[in-house]
Amino acid sequence: MGANLARNLARNGYTVALHNRTQAKTDDLLAKHGGDGNFVRTETLEEFVAALERPRRVLVMVKAGAPVDAVIEQLVPLLEEGDIIIDGGNSLYLDTIRREKELSAKGLHFVGVGVSGGEEGALNGPSIMPGGSKESYASLGPMLEKISAKYNGEPCCAWIETDGAGHFVKMVHNGIEYADMQVIGEAYELLRSGAGIEPAEQAEIFRQWNTGQLNSFLIEITAEVLAHTDAKTGKPFVDVVVDSAGQKGTGRWTVIAALELGSPVTGIAESVFARGLSSQRDQRAVAEQTLVAGTEDVDVPESFVDDVRQALYASKLVSYAQGLDMLNLAGKQYDWDLKLDRIASLWRAGCIIRAELLDDIMQAYAPGNEPENLLFAPAFAKAIGDAVPAWRRVVATAARLGIPTPVFSSSLAYYDGLRRDRLPAALTQGLRDLFGAHTYHRIDGEGTFHTLWGEDKSEIEAVDTH
Ligand code: 6PG
Repeated sequence: MGANLARNLARNGYTVALHNRTQAKTDDLLAKHGGDGNFVRTETLEEFVAALERPRRVLVMVKAGAPVDAVIEQLVPLLEEGDIIIDGGNSLYLDTIRREKELSAKGLHFVGVGVSGGEEGALNGPSIMPGGSKESYASLGPMLEKISAKYNGEPCCAWIETDGAGHFVKMVHNGIEYADMQVIGEAYELLRSGAGIEPAEQAEIFRQWNTGQLNSFLIEITAEVLAHTDAKTGKPFVDVVVDSAGQKGTGRWTVIAALELGSPVTGIAESVFARGLSSQRDQRAVAEQTLVAGTEDVDVPESFVDDVRQALYASKLVSYAQGLDMLNLAGKQYDWDLKLDRIASLWRAGCIIRAELLDDIMQAYAPGNEPENLLFAPAFAKAIGDAVPAWRRVVATAARLGIPTPVFSSSLAYYDGLRRDRLPAALTQGLRDLFGAHTYHRIDGEGTFHTLWGEDKSEIEAVDTH
């Protein structure tokens, strides 16, 4: 990633001083790609810092966590007031908030920047989500905008908000990325095990889907992966890959942050859990042999394929709605004025979740509209409403066939949960009041109440503990 960002900067006319702990890596980059532009080879950190124009702009690309702190510690004594350290890795936003505070006390700027697009994006134009002070963006913005992806000529880079906001938004992007991939996986499994469609044929279906409502990078590369045949065995590539999905942490962090914010990101959470379950291979082997399936024979009609497409679209919309709702809550918690239209606009090109849908999401949050939930925007309320009957059929069929669809199902539950006039939370409140005197509110007036369950069941006014 770091090497490709350096090459991208050089290709855009910036002189880039290079430093790597392992000198051979710098030399390798220069040997292979020195022709991309102006690079300055440096051997020591001192030499590297001395090569930079002031205010210095130091882009750090190391593994998130302790390595970032270690590099900062080495850099700080060499830098001067006003210099900027940019962390372009997938750092935890809480670390970024802490680092920004510590460094601003020393007169330095620290900018946590979310960068999405993988290796290819870093080289040809990623989506860039910078946090940090507005002042630092004045110096960094033009450069970052220049190397970013463009959507109809507009840079997919804009200042997000202060301190950890850039990394927070990138984290939620990744949470949505997890959900996006999981719903694609659920669709694949339904078509494979439910409708008996082999990967190569599915590749065509996904290619077709990519020309409509679902048009996105992830659907496009799904077709590519499904069409791939393993050279060694001649089998579909997906059949020779171990079905246990790893994670580096950003999806998990999204869920942890959501739990703390009280944000119901059920689709993202189920995607993280689905990866966890896939990794419990020993338990899965025992379960396969011992647990009863209790499934039914279902005649899967031809229309099932299009039903799955609609269920995928609806579940995807829910994941975006949940992720954006989480950003709203985080904005309140961290005092960030997060502009959802701007954030959606940055995700329209360059990043992993880039999709046609994001342009519509951007329009839905245009100033003056700002729906409380994406699903309330008229265009999306209609789109998801149109998909609901198919979505219900798919979830019901999946349950009868015993095909796990955690995100399809939980997203439908979220949709119904939002929609319903009354929820059984009233009963939960009653139970909590009975066993723990946790109190409740009444639908017919103000105040907080407790029922004397162990006595005559009369109701008293109480101090709010719920
Ligand atoms: C991106 C990706 C990138 C990386 C993820 C993978 O936006 O370019 O999100 O950041 O691929 O961190 O995360 P997992 O390893 O957790 O799937």
